[in-house]
Amino acid sequence: MMTVRIFEDHDSLSAAAADMIIDTVIKKPAAVLCFATGNTPVRTYQWLIEKARQSNTSFSSCFCIGLDEWAGVPPNKPGTCHYLLHQQVFDPLGIQPAQIHLFDGMNAAIQDECSKMDEIIETRGGIDCMVVGIGLNGHIGFNEPGVDVSLKAHDQVLMESTLASGQHYFNEPTPISRGITLGMAQVLKANRLLLLANGKHKAPIIQKALEAAVSNEVPASYVQLCDNAMVLLDREAASELSTWN
Ligand code: F6R
Repeated sequence: MMTVRIFEDHDSLSAAAADMIIDTVIKKPAAVLCFATGNTPVRTYQWLIEKARQSNTSFSSCFCIGLDEWAGVPPNKPGTCHYLLHQQVFDPLGIQPAQIHLFDGMNAAIQDECSKMDEIIETRGGIDCMVVGIGLNGHIGFNEPGVDVSLKAHDQVLMESTLASGQHYFNEPTPISRGITLGMAQVLKANRLLLLANGKHKAPIIQKALEAAVSNEVPASYVQLCDNAMVLLDREAASELSTWN
């Protein structure tokens, strides 16, 4: 069963998430870490950098992977997961290229790209700590409603709502239609899964994901069954829950 924690605001939620990442790395310096992008974890990553500095935590032995990527968009284009993770996490923490593996959205052989990621996760003994957000349709990564939750890395045609919110990450109109993502099988197997959500706009989907029946129509609802999952919410995102209020 998942754990749910409710925080006063986005800042305190983010500080707690950063503490859990640091704790993972202190306990296991060679931890495999997986990071989402998007608006939700931005503050977590700022806290992570600050807390790593304060606590003198070294990330020099860890290995980092990305949760997902837009297919067909060059990695260095501002707005890609590649670009944002370098800017928000890897560069400030001094994480070296040899410690990072991200999906290459430009590789036309998407199946190879997925197999490579699956193999890396397998070889390194799984993911120790994973930070994810939730989409307004209940997606995690690019696992859209209806996804086969037994899948590992795969590509996915994205829904209109995902494409529309995705467009906001880019500073110019960018053609996007597909995503490449870790599968729910990998998300649910992480030793520590941190699902973060903040803001009023996330309240209805958080209510569905945590309190309605588990269904692949809301991929995030599978966290209900996951003992290693911790859901970190601010008061606004938690405002429609009946069990925890
Ligand atoms: C991004 C990702 C997405 C986002 C989700 C929420 O790497 O995997 O699933 O986590 O769309 O996005 P925000 O945080 O912008 O509300």
